[in-house]
Amino acid sequence: MKGEGTCSKGVRRSCLSGLVGGIILTIVALYLYNSYRLRVPQRTETLSGMPSVRISKHLPDIIIIGAKKCGTKALITVLGRHPKIKAAKGEVHFFDRNYSKGLKWYLTRMPLGTDDQLVIEKTPSYFVTPKVPQRVSNFSKTVKLLLIVRDPVVRVISHFTQIDSKKAYKKLPRPKIERIIFNNKDGTVKLGSNAIEVSQYDVHFQQWLNVFPKEQIFVVDGDGFISNPLKEVVKVEQFLNIESFFKEDMFVFNKEKGFYCWREHEDQEEECLGDSKGRPHPNNISSDTTDKLKTFFQPHTKKFCSLANVNFSWCTP
Ligand code: A3P
Repeated sequence: MKGEGTCSKGVRRSCLSGLVGGIILTIVALYLYNSYRLRVPQRTETLSGMPSVRISKHLPDIIIIGAKKCGTKALITVLGRHPKIKAAKGEVHFFDRNYSKGLKWYLTRMPLGTDDQLVIEKTPSYFVTPKVPQRVSNFSKTVKLLLIVRDPVVRVISHFTQIDSKKAYKKLPRPKIERIIFNNKDGTVKLGSNAIEVSQYDVHFQQWLNVFPKEQIFVVDGDGFISNPLKEVVKVEQFLNIESFFKEDMFVFNKEKGFYCWREHEDQEEECLGDSKGRPHPNNISSDTTDKLKTFFQPHTKKFCSLANVNFSWCTP
């Protein structure tokens, strides 16, 4: 006697195709179920006299992939003020540190927004983590990527300033920058130093270009974003294909902070980033040190500017 679910020799082929069909149907059903769950509305809000607005969480349409200490926080803070954009809080670290937790976890880290709003997150370590580009590509073929970079030598100094200020806070010994970025023995640039590695933009950018077309990654001039944020953010609006929102009077230079801060209306007090952004850099770094860094980064910079097709102030020596 044949038990249910078994096949006789004569009908094995059709039985097998039935089985394959069943598996395909199950996969499609699971996919549709997951897509539904990942956009499931959290609540519907009705403002008095206004039609009801569906508010839900959805996975990011835009990701700021880096680079660390190049203005990633300033960029997401400004973009998050655009009515069409909702920004995730903090650094999400899904594709590098929390990937095994799955998309459901990623979704919990996203902000609530209306269906026509774009969701953005930023995690600067994505730029330099080799496995991340492929993971992002598996996640979405259409996600828009933003990369903000600044002069690689200034970035190293900013990186060092952050390390130094953390040490000062913890009352730990504070080595000079040269101890961190140059080899003790022969004074050559320390390739294993994270501060050096991150500024080798071409190496990391190439990893992203292996997976994404260049048109999908917009490279923001981080130095330009400090000196003229409006000019840079307008370019980002164009890349994202969203309506123009930012105006000159929304950016106010704050003399005390030494950076631009933001406000929506003239009668509003401007909002600046906290003290950990825009720290004064040490003024005792010798020109020997900066020259050595410049020479080291020059071939990397040249390659990066050519790959990214940009002509920032530091692209040419
Ligand atoms: P410094 O603190 O070395 O000046 P990130 O957010 O990626 O860590 O980048 C920090 C850098 O953003 C700061 O480095 C600062 O130069 C830059 N930045 C750009 N616009 C800024 C702004 N409006 N306010 C403060 N920092 C800004």
